[in-house]
Amino acid sequence: MDKIRVIGGNALKGNIIVKGAKNAVLPLMACALLTEEEMIFENVPYLADIKTMTQVLEHLGAKVTHENETLKIRANEISRLDAPYELVSKMRASFWVLGPLLGRFHQAKISLPGGCAIGTRPVDRHLYAMERLGAQIDIQNGYVQACSSGRLKGNKIIFQPTMGGTMNALMAAVLAKGTTEIINAAAEPEVTDLARCLVQMGAKISGIGTRRLVVEGVETLKGVRYKVIPDRIEATTYAVAAGITHGELYIENAHLYLMEDVAFVLTRMGLDVIEKNNGLFVSGKNCELIATDIVTEEFPGFPTDCQAQVMALMCLAKGTSTVTENIFENRFMHVQELVRMGANIHLQGTRTAVIRGVDFLSGAPVMASDLRASAALVLAGLAAKGETIINRIYHLDRGYDRLEEKLRSVGANIVRFRPIGDEEI
Ligand code: EPZ
Repeated sequence: MDKIRVIGGNALKGNIIVKGAKNAVLPLMACALLTEEEMIFENVPYLADIKTMTQVLEHLGAKVTHENETLKIRANEISRLDAPYELVSKMRASFWVLGPLLGRFHQAKISLPGGCAIGTRPVDRHLYAMERLGAQIDIQNGYVQACSSGRLKGNKIIFQPTMGGTMNALMAAVLAKGTTEIINAAAEPEVTDLARCLVQMGAKISGIGTRRLVVEGVETLKGVRYKVIPDRIEATTYAVAAGITHGELYIENAHLYLMEDVAFVLTRMGLDVIEKNNGLFVSGKNCELIATDIVTEEFPGFPTDCQAQVMALMCLAKGTSTVTENIFENRFMHVQELVRMGANIHLQGTRTAVIRGVDFLSGAPVMASDLRASAALVLAGLAAKGETIINRIYHLDRGYDRLEEKLRSVGANIVRFRPIGDEEI
């Protein structure tokens, strides 16, 4: 199994480019099932999760190619309507093919995803939405069997906040008969990106970017070419890298409209964050890091996917910071690993971490538990004295395209290696 070795202490300097957002690409790939025409997505990074979604689509009979960051999908010969446990348990976003399959083929059999390292993550809100649209849902042997006699029927869906649920509902509703109103819809930029792509395909959606989406169902959708929005979580990771190493990075394709709250928090902590041309200039040069408090919330609040990275920065800030995690019930697995590197963090209950800034972190062998926790450990390693070895970095590869190469190109002392005798997983 690959590992990452970081020797901390180098101030990063230079340009780094952010690619298309993983969490936008995955639903966009699912939405390609809604048309028999070819869909072409640009700005698509090479990520393990995108490979997994490719496998799901290929399993269904779609043709997928991914070259020069362009992903082409043609779903004109769909031969099966199921997503197996092996794929859905590997990546829960596979579950998002449910909506498009039901919408276009009126039938689907999708494995339930099961548990996850950051929380229980049920799919009840997805199923509620499909039922509201007239699907019959049966759960048998770990699979959701869903069907409708003919087209789904538009209806009112009142959500508890859910990004995936909103996207699944939207993809099911665009081909339904009549009007669907989604109340309390997720308004994350990735949901908006999906809605915009669906509109280009011929869907009728209003309220895009708000918490109330209204969909007038249409009979068919066409294939389009669509450029995916930049990854705001990847951008945040580089912004923290600039801050934690007291360096300066120009992060191309990072935009304030995607990460205003994150930029605000980083500024409060002492960093300079300036929008310039097509990116953000972030500097932690000569700055003293200052403690702050964050609470994770739905967009435009502070994203749960950025709390681990910012916590790494808080470990070295003067004073006491707190992180309150409101989205997932178990997203503090990185805490004990940061503590192994010398951080002073205590959990108050299950939702709040109290971080007292220390003068320095020291390198240590650590274990990545999930995608963003892995990024936090890399960031801590960039600032720590000595060598940090990060184990289980396959988590990192799910959402970052060659993170270590990009960081190396701006001065980090970081390599990926495979211990002799270790098999590829
Ligand atoms: C998406 O997951 C993202 N994943 C996550 O990204 C992100 O952390 C999360 O949204 C929150 O922003 C992808 O886009 C692939 P939710 P999703 O439904 O859609 C509960 C990353 O690191 N819930 O908005 O699955 C759920 O348990 C990740 O890239 C139900 O109870 O998240 C959670 O507590 C990981 N029932 C909350 O809602 C449901 O049916 C929000 O989850 C659905 C969700």
